Amino acid sequence: MLMQQSIDEIARKAYVQYPKERIVGLYCGFKKVVLLRDPDIIRYIITKDFKHFISRGVRTNEEGFCDSLLLAEGDKWKSLRKKLTPAFTSTKLKHMTPLIEECIDKLITEAENRIDQGNPCNIKDLCEKYSLDVICSCVFGLNMDVYSNEIKHFGKVSKAATQPSIFYWFWYVAEMILPGIQRKFTKINPGSYVRSFFMKLVTTVINEREIRGIKRNDLMNIMIELKARDKLEAVGNSPLEVRIDDHIIASQACAFYVAGQETSSSILSFLLYELSLHPNIQDIVYEEICYVCDLYNGELTYESLKKLKYLYMVFQETMRKHSAVGFLIRKATSDYIIPETEITIKADTFVLISLTGLHTDAKYFQDPETFNPANFSEENMTKIPQYAYMPFGAGPRNCIGKNHCYLSLCVAFSPQTPFAHLRCGTVTAEPQ
Ligand code: HEM
Repeated sequence: MLMQQSIDEIARKAYVQYPKERIVGLYCGFKKVVLLRDPDIIRYIITKDFKHFISRGVRTNEEGFCDSLLLAEGDKWKSLRKKLTPAFTSTKLKHMTPLIEECIDKLITEAENRIDQGNPCNIKDLCEKYSLDVICSCVFGLNMDVYSNEIKHFGKVSKAATQPSIFYWFWYVAEMILPGIQRKFTKINPGSYVRSFFMKLVTTVINEREIRGIKRNDLMNIMIELKARDKLEAVGNSPLEVRIDDHIIASQACAFYVAGQETSSSILSFLLYELSLHPNIQDIVYEEICYVCDLYNGELTYESLKKLKYLYMVFQETMRKHSAVGFLIRKATSDYIIPETEITIKADTFVLISLTGLHTDAKYFQDPETFNPANFSEENMTKIPQYAYMPFGAGPRNCIGKNHCYLSLCVAFSPQTPFAHLRCGTVTAEPQ
């Protein structure tokens, strides 16, 4: 309530504090929260008995973005997920690769400019702008000059989402104490800036494409096609089915931006940070990239990415040591008795799973503070219990963008990019 600790930190502390327990109880304001520590129990909640835990229970203003995949509940979520899943198939992602390559060209120019000036190059800043460029291009269909000031609105939106002001604090604590109050005072919702920003952006893009008949291999195009199909087939009239319109598209675009930009950029910068601390690992990554490129005539194609096995291990280890999302959350939709126990999770109770806790638990990862990609070798992978490592969540509500995230990261390592050439001695590790 005093904003001294994030939910991630609170969940991790509780995870560490009770090493012998499978389930721990916490309070959030006056509400009871259940923290699950045991991968077998997690499996029941996340996958096997998912129907009782279909929602995240994260509230927002009804008129706002509660229609996004991230926050939608029940049948609305089911319908949205069914419609949007085909947007992330490997064929669709393959078609998006050229868009990501364009972002790489801009990244190279920017990095070269900065290096030519002889100044230290802030990698985190570069990663943030690169990820923003990828999301703008693949989600909104915008070709932006992210390395200039053109992104100030996105910056403001990110800040609103990641560094809440005192007004946000007041808004959320009020909801904690008086559930439902946010819906009564929608006009003063501090998130309305975010909503109107995305709504305006998305309607402009949609209008322009519809009027000029522009087609592009991006998520916006896929959603515009879904909108047209819903109109033609007159589907979506059933109360269980969501009809895709501009508001729904804006909600998804916002969700993809919020869920995809910060996560991808933080994983990319932590990965580079770890490589700078471990020149031996950096050398193996570099040699693997060169080897795979040679196999594919000097290019890193969509097909060749699967051959970058060591880079994938490094990626997995980065997400273990530096969780981009520190916890998973679900809300019970009905009373539920946890199998093999006598504990009932009452309807409306929140369930927390500390990914940071699980991923740094010595029970599952030997010497968890050490960065060791070998944790994810074929042999060692079999030793990790299934629900003890899940950086993208798990079950039907897992991350829809996980392959997109890995694709944008791999392309960032194509041989022309400065990242692929970062060798020991040229990268200094000074995290900020
Ligand atoms: C390093 C990159 C990323 C990480 C670590 C990450 C992680 C996660 C996690 C942990 C969840 C919650 C899963 C659960 O509750 O079981 C999630 C959900 C989600 N992610 Fe990602 N994510 C990443 C990138 C992306 C990208 C690039 C996009 C979109 C383009 C995206 C879109 C979403 C959406 C829409 C959801 C909600 C899915 C649903 O509720 O059906 N994520 N992500």
